[in-house]
Amino acid sequence: MGGLCVLFSAEAIAARVDALAVEIARTIPDDFVVVGLLKGAAVFVADLIRALDRAGGRPELEFMRLSSYGLASRSSGVVELLGESPAGLAGRSVLLVDDIVDTGRSIAYAADELRRCGIDRLWTCALLDKPQRREISVTIDFVGFSIGDQFVVGYGTDYAEKYRHLPYIAALE
Ligand code: IMP
Ligand code: MG
Repeated sequence: MGGLCVLFSAEAIAARVDALAVEIARTIPDDFVVVGLLKGAAVFVADLIRALDRAGGRPELEFMRLSSYGLASRSSGVVELLGESPAGLAGRSVLLVDDIVDTGRSIAYAADELRRCGIDRLWTCALLDKPQRREISVTIDFVGFSIGDQFVVGYGTDYAEKYRHLPYIAALE
């Protein structure tokens, strides 16, 4: 692994995030909570909630932290909740947001955890989807970009904690 090949520029991401926000604001009734999965979705969520504001949404914001990848570029297959789930989600409408859906394990685990918290309705959103890699069937209601079986970094996503700061998304080759 070494070179970076830009897949989605900062401008392309910004345009797609704005369009996603319009779609989300049209679909989810007013009073909802965005739950971002740390750390990968932090950058996406930060842009998404401001795009939602421009689209007329007024979401609340919470985060959950899952662990599964460690330092590897392939999922270990074991997902854990680090710390606690957000308080006060019972009865709420929730938009669960991750950076990338790969095998589907992380977002499926987080969705189960939110259901255990007694949420009322759940929608899911990911900036990037790798449908060919799916092992767990899970519905992603709002997808930014679908990509092939490739490892990407930037815009919050990492390889061994590096590259999260990149304003664009690149394939790591
Ligand atoms: P899943 O549980 O296999 O769906 O993996 C999803 C999680 O793995 C995401 O939250 C990402 O943080 C991470 N991930 C999956 N693919 C990539 C990638 O290509 N680059 C960086 N992180 C990834
Ligand atoms: Mg992640």
